[in-house]
Amino acid sequence: MNYGTQTQRQIFTNGMMGKKPPIPLHYTHLKSQAQAKLTAEQFAYIDGGAGQGRTIRANEKGFEKYPLKASMMKASSNINLEVSILGHKYASPILAAPIGVLEMAHPSADIGVAKACKTMKTPMIFSSQASFSMEKCAAVMDDSPRWFQLYWSKSDELVQSFLSRAESCKCDAIVVTLDTTRLGWRPRDLELGYLPFLRGLGLAHYYSDPVFQYLVNQNMNNDNLQDEGKNTISFSGLCNLIRLCNKYPGSFRSNLITGRALTAVRTFTNIYMRPELKWGDLIRLRKMTNLPIVVKGVQTLEDVHMAEQSGVDGVIVSNHGGRQIDGGVAAIHCLRSIAQEYSGHMSILFDSGIRSGADVIKALALGADAVLVGRPYVYALAIAGETGVETLFRHYLAELELQMSLMGISSIKEINSDVLY
Ligand code: GLV
Repeated sequence: MNYGTQTQRQIFTNGMMGKKPPIPLHYTHLKSQAQAKLTAEQFAYIDGGAGQGRTIRANEKGFEKYPLKASMMKASSNINLEVSILGHKYASPILAAPIGVLEMAHPSADIGVAKACKTMKTPMIFSSQASFSMEKCAAVMDDSPRWFQLYWSKSDELVQSFLSRAESCKCDAIVVTLDTTRLGWRPRDLELGYLPFLRGLGLAHYYSDPVFQYLVNQNMNNDNLQDEGKNTISFSGLCNLIRLCNKYPGSFRSNLITGRALTAVRTFTNIYMRPELKWGDLIRLRKMTNLPIVVKGVQTLEDVHMAEQSGVDGVIVSNHGGRQIDGGVAAIHCLRSIAQEYSGHMSILFDSGIRSGADVIKALALGADAVLVGRPYVYALAIAGETGVETLFRHYLAELELQMSLMGISSIKEINSDVLY
């Protein structure tokens, strides 16, 4: 690979012609440019986190605790970014994190991301809360790698259906998110009274699922559910109802008259999370799929131990980008002890706070096998759609490669705690 020099050269050559990169390179600029493209509600949902946003700030600041040091006269002109995870070879240690409701950022949403990931050979983790079904994404990806992230629903039948669909879509692994069995307290969304799912956004997997449709059928005859919210409808409520009926499969007229679109959203809100999820459920999950299982959201050695005992193949050290707990520890601070104890026994990935190629090196040096990038690619999507996401990953790989070269590292395998000061 030669992303580093090539990308740098291309950017400077384009600059000579008066052409700027399609997205800003600095995270702060990326975020503010995306903000200008989004409504207040969209930006708050993507950018926001739990409580006063202290965990998000801790996540980003946490990286400063691990300065890198460089060795001279060791640089190679051929840097190998390849990694092997769960028995699969991937082109680099960067994966696209599962992010829901991407249609808020750009109409191409998951499809734009899937195409960009294919171009950049970046494994994409399909979110449970996607705007396009996994089948539609897989259809534009050829053999490009993909995983599926599962929110464990109250309906095991729906979970089984999602797993079978992920297998048919040739996903390499299932990622079970453990930290979001309820939504965290998110004041920015609460102030705006905005939750995208209630407007029928991010429900593509559910709407396209036969088991979910069966559950909606049952609820169409459930008087308690039908009586919910039977109060006078405001103008904005009416607009939202119209959007909901437009979004739901089938004819607008019948969705409105039968109340099916509304019942589908109520069905979703009743079942999409299972707060009482326990480690034992993972043992059941093991029997429901042959795909490797990775759990996302672990921070403690005890939880990694439980994950291992439950037969999972990997963990993602993460605090959900600071969206669940306020005042939490930076995810990066949880990584070293987990990697020291479990590296070699299971795959260890890291998520929450990666904002550059340099951050990737720090996470790998602390023991991660690979990292997930989240908000940055969503901002890139908001600014420039598929091209934005492709460019974002290109920039991250370019920086990663250049910085490795400048530090005297030729391959991902060589990155270890010796490169930390
Ligand atoms: C869902 O995953 C969210 O963080 O909003």
